[in-house]
Amino acid sequence: MFADKILVNFSQIFSPIDKGRPLRGEEMSEALIIEDGYIAIKDGKILEVGSGNPDQKLINGYTEIIDYSGKLASPGLIDCHTHLVYGGSREGEFAKKLNGVSYLDILKEGGGILSTVKATRESSFSVLFDKTKRLLDKMLVYGVTTVEAKSGYGLYWETEKRQLEVTKALNENHPIELVSTFMAAHAIPKEYQENPDAFIQLIIDEMLPKVKVENLAEFCDIFCETGVFTAEQSRKLLTAAKELGFKLRIHADEIDSIGGVDVAAELQTLTAEHLMAATDEGIEKMSKAHVIGNLLPGTTFSLMADTYAPAKKMLEAGMAITLSTDSNPGSCPTANIQFIMQLGCFKMFLTPIQVFNAVTINAAYAVGRGEKIGSLDQGKQADITIFDATNVDYPLYFFATNLVMDVYKNGEQVVK
Ligand code: NIG
Ligand code: FE
Repeated sequence: MFADKILVNFSQIFSPIDKGRPLRGEEMSEALIIEDGYIAIKDGKILEVGSGNPDQKLINGYTEIIDYSGKLASPGLIDCHTHLVYGGSREGEFAKKLNGVSYLDILKEGGGILSTVKATRESSFSVLFDKTKRLLDKMLVYGVTTVEAKSGYGLYWETEKRQLEVTKALNENHPIELVSTFMAAHAIPKEYQENPDAFIQLIIDEMLPKVKVENLAEFCDIFCETGVFTAEQSRKLLTAAKELGFKLRIHADEIDSIGGVDVAAELQTLTAEHLMAATDEGIEKMSKAHVIGNLLPGTTFSLMADTYAPAKKMLEAGMAITLSTDSNPGSCPTANIQFIMQLGCFKMFLTPIQVFNAVTINAAYAVGRGEKIGSLDQGKQADITIFDATNVDYPLYFFATNLVMDVYKNGEQVVK
């Protein structure tokens, strides 16, 4: 079969070993590293990856051959935890943070997530669409080809729906592929401060069925945290979501360990996210239940804390881990997944191969797309990120600099 395009002469190609499930523990140190490699693409999919010169059988008069001498290729990077669609921004809280006011205290004063809720409710569909599109444009140039996007700045249906519809529209109108998560249980709206159980019930009775019928999200998520939702409330909402056919994720152990991890293990959520405050016992439970630990070191950095999630312990316990930005206006305003990958090395002491596996194959499974993306196996989408680097160590070592030069999504070049 002839290729449409062949990318040739790579100094290195990194491709994870796809075992049909996320890589766990020691498996995260393994990968296919091809020296002097090529990638052949046909109909937007990977046709062949190999070393040396591609076979003449792949080439006819129409095959485009593109030279990438001295460069590194990896599968398109996957950002599997973002709060993507929102109104306004929160640089006004930055000074407070610098003066030592904590994230949960800002939230208690009605700021934090709740101030973004206000700004989001006041933003029209087109304002949100344009703003989110600009954010996705930035993510794309850092090498990201798939993004998970949570709602949760509406809290009430009308705005939650608007956020989900913006996600859907952008999925159809932007090179980045979006995976939608419904997260109305992101904060307790002012009107329900005294009765959060009633808000959970409202989500279960009124919102979840509508999200399902209108096909606006694949996943359901909840913020299980001190002063937000309890483990019991999380259990209740996620159980109802599971019955309706949603896949599950949970924000657990971000700041305090209050039982979110137990809920994750019991309900076998696909992921537990944040985990800065994860305990040894919690790690054991997640490992046994095969819950993916989705770690967000940019949030620890931006909260000016030093409590990075215990990534190494998780690997020692045989867990699968991923890394993502948590991109949001409060606890992690960034579009730069490469910086997050670097924090994975600098602050969590992961190796470059572990980090690349985390943001490719494991992130693909963490968004339920492991059969389609996350590695360069034949038949997968030709989502490819190309770095101005000769090997897989370099983009982790040479930090805080965008080293991505070209990006392909479904075989089309979307960043040049
Ligand atoms: O993942 N944890 C909850 N939500 C976000 C923060 C959102 C915000 O502050 O606006 C997070 O950290
Ligand atoms: Fe988050």
